[in-house]
Amino acid sequence: MNKHPITLTINNQEYSITVAGHHTLLQVMRDQLDLTEVKYGCGRGECGACTVLVDDDNEKSGRKAIDACLALAATMDGKKLTTARGLGENGDLNAVQQAFVDESGIQCGFCTPGMVVKSTDLLEKNPKATEEEIRFGLEGNICRCTGYVKIVDSVKKAQKVMTKNKKKK
Ligand code: FES
Ligand code: FES
Repeated sequence: MNKHPITLTINNQEYSITVAGHHTLLQVMRDQLDLTEVKYGCGRGECGACTVLVDDDNEKSGRKAIDACLALAATMDGKKLTTARGLGENGDLNAVQQAFVDESGIQCGFCTPGMVVKSTDLLEKNPKATEEEIRFGLEGNICRCTGYVKIVDSVKKAQKVMTKNKKKK
């Protein structure tokens, strides 16, 4: 079996590990690194439960959302990644996470890590997103519980908070 030494920086922590050539980033994060907030839903890029952010200089926001189940871990050597656990700062939730709590955007919680990561990406790229753009932006993230209304309300609430905070600066 092919083994590859790689280094990943996840939520500002560096991991130097050896991964099997056929293992996905999702498998490595969950099974080798115990980052179980990255959820295994479909395993084939259809549900968004495994969404994480990867630093990308080509993006205006400096990072982009990807499905960890679709990336081979061996190809991620040297990358900086953020999971739902690493979104906040100094132990606080970020605006999106707090809004999901405040607006009851969470029911069973299985989709939530992927939802908050994707919503953060969406608002970083398009702070003025309309409701239609929010719904379109989240269409790759499936929720079996909420009917999406509370999720969209949560993203809109986060958007207001982020806009207010920006004005204060
Ligand atoms: S587990 Fe990756 S998109 Fe469903
Ligand atoms: S809250 Fe249960 S799947 Fe979304």
